[in-house]
Amino acid sequence: MLRSVLIGTGSALPRTAVSNADLAQRVNTTDEWIVERTGIRNRHIAEADETTATLATNAGRHALDAAGIDAASIDLIVLATATPDQTFPASATIVQSALGCRAGGIAFDVAAVCSGFLYAVGVADSMLRTGMAKRALVIGAETFSRILDWEDRGTCVLFGDGAGAIVLEAQEQEGDLQRGILATRLHADGAHNQLLFVDGGPSTTGTVGKLRMKGREVFRHAVVNLAEVLREVLGEAGFSSDDLDWLVPHQANARILDATARKLNLPPEKVIVTVDRHANTSAASVPLALDQAVRDGRIKRGDLVMLEAMGGGFTWGASLLRI
Ligand code: UT7
Repeated sequence: MLRSVLIGTGSALPRTAVSNADLAQRVNTTDEWIVERTGIRNRHIAEADETTATLATNAGRHALDAAGIDAASIDLIVLATATPDQTFPASATIVQSALGCRAGGIAFDVAAVCSGFLYAVGVADSMLRTGMAKRALVIGAETFSRILDWEDRGTCVLFGDGAGAIVLEAQEQEGDLQRGILATRLHADGAHNQLLFVDGGPSTTGTVGKLRMKGREVFRHAVVNLAEVLREVLGEAGFSSDDLDWLVPHQANARILDATARKLNLPPEKVIVTVDRHANTSAASVPLALDQAVRDGRIKRGDLVMLEAMGGGFTWGASLLRI
């Protein structure tokens, strides 16, 4: 069976780190409030010369290096972002030329906000398994700092900037211990599209707009939707949560991570947590966390790993893969 096998991971963070204490100097907040409600201690914020495409390019380069392959062999780039460099062209095309990926290959962006990386993985996996491409660079990259309302303490303390990338390769897999993406489920429910949104855009205000969120309602939906989609994916692939080696969740809030792990009866040691250092980097959060855990040696070849995310739309999804 043709499967999309992960052959490399990479990530990139803006050079400037901003602690809760730094933020408290310009926003009416405290380190205690942020840590207690979210688990966040630090985030990285892009400088003027750092953009979604530059971060994505750096993350992509690290993923290609880790895979040990030439950029020219990449024939598909799917970049998940809600903060592209320009309204168009797709930031994926900027990455394609910056990295020297195959000219004439496929490159496009996916917009599903915090679930964007899961959507990008789902799309890339489908295209690889149907033979439309052979090697995909799948990226989540964001500069949410550019769309934050720095007067709104209920949202501006929650987010950070960054990028993560993976290389997927179409490979024939046989037998019980098949590597690659084993199952992915994606969902959206547009009835909730005004609970987490940006109040501007090219076709309405002609401006970029700022992020608005009803945090408590998003929180409630996140815990329910994530537990459901995780069970759905495990069921489809024929596994139980006991079989999982690692959960790599979207890093929005430590309390959501804890609640989701509890619902699945997963011990906290199996959950990859980076929200304390990166805050919520939207589409970048899952591949950033995955890359960190691969590089520090926790996630190894043969491990069964679940990725999940939930975000604006609402959109949510999960993907199960064997490394
Ligand atoms: O990635 C997409 C998915 N997004 C999420 O998953 C976010 C989900 N939601 C959350 O993580 C939480 O709802 C928040 C962290 C956003 C908020 O936590 P909460 O426990 O739901 O707090 P709240 O919004 O109900 O606010 C509680 C209090 C309020 O004060 P009063 O009205 O009770 O006096 C806020 O004004 O905390 C106050 N507050 C703050 N205080 C200090 C809100 N933001 C801050 C702040 N510093 N930064």
